[in-house]
Parts: sequence; structure tokens; C-alpha cells
Amino acid sequence: MKVNDVLKKTSIHFNISGMKKEDLLPIYNKLKEYEYTEENVFQRLGVKDIEYILLKYLPIYLNFKLKENTPLDRLIRLFLLATPLDEREMEEIFDPEEINLCRELGLISRNGNGYFSTVDLFPCGGGFFASDHRFKNKYTKNYVYPPGLDSYMLARGMIDSKPKDTLDLCTGSGIQAILASRFSEKVVGVDINNRALNFARFNALLNQTDNVEFLQGNLYRPVGNRKFDLILANPPFVPAPQQSIMFRDGEKSGEAILDRILKGVRTHIKKNGHAQIVTLLFFKKGETYFEKIINWLAPANFQVLVLASRYKEVEPYVLEHVDYDMDYDAYSQQVTTLLKTYQSSGIEKLADGLISMRYTPDIPSSFGFRDVRPVNKLFSKNIKSFLDSIVDISHFDSPDKLRRCNYKLSGDIDFFWEGRYKGGKRNWGVLFNDDSLSIDESLGKLHWIVLDIVSDGTKNGTMIEEELHKRASNIIEIDERLFFYTIQRLLQEGILEKE
Ligand SMILES: C[S@@+](CC[C@H](N)C(=O)[O-])C[C@H]1O[C@@H](n2cnc3c(N)ncnc32)[C@H](O)[C@@H]1O
Repeated sequence: MKVNDVLKKTSIHFNISGMKKEDLLPIYNKLKEYEYTEENVFQRLGVKDIEYILLKYLPIYLNFKLKENTPLDRLIRLFLLATPLDEREMEEIFDPEEINLCRELGLISRNGNGYFSTVDLFPCGGGFFASDHRFKNKYTKNYVYPPGLDSYMLARGMIDSKPKDTLDLCTGSGIQAILASRFSEKVVGVDINNRALNFARFNALLNQTDNVEFLQGNLYRPVGNRKFDLILANPPFVPAPQQSIMFRDGEKSGEAILDRILKGVRTHIKKNGHAQIVTLLFFKKGETYFEKIINWLAPANFQVLVLASRYKEVEPYVLEHVDYDMDYDAYSQQVTTLLKTYQSSGIEKLADGLISMRYTPDIPSSFGFRDVRPVNKLFSKNIKSFLDSIVDISHFDSPDKLRRCNYKLSGDIDFFWEGRYKGGKRNWGVLFNDDSLSIDESLGKLHWIVLDIVSDGTKNGTMIEEELHKRASNIIEIDERLFFYTIQRLLQEGILEKE
């Protein structure tokens, strides 16, 4: 054995050889029994979402929030806050055989005062996902990525169109692959980091999953020419001069891995299949996101929806990704090198993004871009209906057909409004209810009139068109084209539904 191979072996973490999912069932059942869910964890810690669980708040969590010391509080301390439990606390949540099993597996370890977890365990979508500890500011090359807001965003936005085959690229802890295995017949998860795959295999066993296969390799390479109904990916995207940390560094442009994933979608996706990639969106001088997407996907036909949230300026973003616990000269050099990397790539602004697409070879491509607020609930239904509605609309062969349909307000809408800015300028908007995607994008007056028309019950297209003529003729002349686009946009955004 070469020295390198020894290193590879020792860097693996979970001792799962020969283990079956049934062996881990008692631990899974305990986590379920104590309701270790993301909603409960956020509620106990008083945070909005996963990424707001911060090391600097530790004294507040321990001394003020988790004072009840219920089994759930103890699980949070052990598996999310890297805090030890004493023997009695541990024995009150796990039986002695379960404690032994956890130790044998490598999930927990013992020190003089009691037990501590050697990993983090994240609840997400009803499952549990082990990764390396989150409270770190120095990473080894093969550190296993603790699910962040990006991971949760993809998990919450994954489209369930009953896929037969799903591919999860850059699977890491396997979080999306394992969650997708609940609605997909078969799933393949790929990662370049062998250590991450050991965690992913452990997570599959823990979550009682046996239809996911994990393969080691570079992006699509391990799956050859196989085609999938759903392709998921959360690739590394932080611009860096070299890939020194596998989970994070997206080469110099930040988009190198995204570029390879998007260019490979066409050859690995089945007709009408979906692909979804969570990534940082880079806005470069003189280039729209629409142009970027076209360059990546053309000449194939895709219906694309890009969701953007939490815009960031370059300098604060760079500073967030630099370790400042170091000598000043080294720090200064790192900041300068990184900023130069951004500058040379022409990056001006950044945002969190989720790119979703449907491959429709026979229907011309179309593209939607929406600014959204991140939500800590499932929103995949909204993405799917957006992508589907574009496809449906392409089949409307005449405005006559549009006129014959009946329309009503979508059940996802809480209310719509007509408002006024301070300066007197008018605005119109709509609020989606809790479990859907919220929209910041405002509507136009014509959209608002249509919503007002259908607000007291279903109306057909002809009635809407006539009413629009009456109520909007003092603003604009309503022709067939305007009627068509007004209805189309409301359908696309999931604000209006056909009956
Ligand atoms: C940001 S993490 C995402 C992990 C997980 N999917 C999640 O959402 O939490 C990115 C993952 O991509 C993997 N990776 C980086 N380059 C890769 C490549 N060329 N091929 C396959 N996986 C890669 C890393 O090892 C890491 O596990």
C-alpha cells in the first residue's frame, strides 16, 4: 500500500462495512421519536433557518434557549452545537446497545466527562444527514460539506415529477440524493471526494434508503452516457485561484464546474426531464443572465426559470470567505488575490440562485428570471407549475383558445394589492401564502385588473377580455396580444389557475 492510500483510508470516517439499514433503524427511530426535525430545531433555537445557527450564539442557545433539557434539546446540543452530553443525559436518550452502536459506527465518541458527537447531524425534509462539524473556519481538502442554506434550498425546491432515474452531482453528504430517493425509483449520487461518499452511504443507511447508489468521480464521468429524468447539483462556486477545498472552490471564475454541469445536461437528460442547480449567480459587466444561460444550453430547447435571492456586493462576499485568524500580511495577500480574481473575471454583483429547467426538444426555449425571498418551506410545486405552464402556453394555438378557458385565482394566493410609493408612484403586487414561493417582483395594472375580475369567482377568457376593455381603455388599448400576455404571465407565475 502506498502512503497516499493509507491517508485515503484513514481519512474515511464511518465504519459501515457490512452494515445493513436495519442495523441503523433503532437510531433512526429515536431521532423520529424525539421529533428531531428542522422546524423543531429552528423553533427551539429561535432561528429562522439553518444558516442562522451561529457559533457566536452558543452561550445564548445553551443558557437561554435549551434550558428545558428535553431529549430534543439534548439531541440539538449533541448533534448541532458540538457540545458534550454527560453519561446520564446520554443514557436518557439512547439505550446502552444504541450508544455502543453509535460508537462503533463513529457517530459519537467518549471522553472523560461523557459523550460528544464526531460529526454534525442535520435534520432536513424528514431525514437526517451527517457531515463534518459546521463550526469551523479551517477546512481540510476533503472536509464533508455541512448542509447550508444552498443545500436546503435545493432540497426544498426539488421537483417531484415521479422520476424513474435521478442523478445528484456533487452529492456531498448525499442530502438531496437521499431525499429524492423517496420519490424517484432509482438515484445515483456522484462526488469526487471519497470521504463525502462514506458519509453519504452512512446517511443512506441511517435514512433507511436502499435505492441510491453512490459513485466516486468527476461530475458525469461515472455515469457514462446514461440519461436521467431529474438531474440535481449543488456544485462548488466560490471563485478561487485553485481548488484547494473540494466542497467550496469553483476555480478561478467560480463558474467552471457549473459550466461543465450545464453543458452536460443536454446529453444526460431525458425528454421532458428536469435539471436543477443551486449556485451563486455571478453578474458580470455587460452580460445578462439570459445571455449566459443561452450560451450554456443552446442550441437545445429548455424552459428555464432562474430564482435569485440575497444579492451581495463583491467585497463583503470576499471578506466572508477569508480566514482572518492569521497573520496580517498573509490575510492582506489573500484578500488582494481573491479580489483580483473577481476583478479579472468581470464579476460585479452576486446572488444566491436556483436554476431550474425542463428539456423540451420540440418547443422553443423560454426563460424566466425572478427575484424571490428565501422561504424555509417546500416550494417545488411552484417551480414545477411555472415550468409546466410555459410549456402549456406554447400549445395555445390561438387567442380563441385562451378565451374559451375558465380562470380563477390560485389557491396559493393570500391577497393582492394596489399600493402607492411615498412619492406617489403606484404599484401592484401579490402575496403568496406561507408554503409557496414569495415574489418580490411587482405586477402591472392590467394584471391587477384581471385579478380583481376573477376575485369573486371563476370567469372565462371572453368575459375577462371584455371587462379589461371596459376598465383599462382609458390607460391603454387592449388588443389580442396584450390580453394574451397578461393572462400568460399570471398563469406562468402561478397567480391564476385554469379550471
Ligand atoms: C457545496 S458541496 C454540496 C454537497 C451537497 N450536495 C449539499 O448540497 O450539501 C459540493 C460538493 O461537490 C463535490 N465536488 C467538487 N468538485 C467535484 C467534481 N468535479 N465532481 C464531483 N463532485 C465534485 C465536493 O466534494 C462537495 O461534496
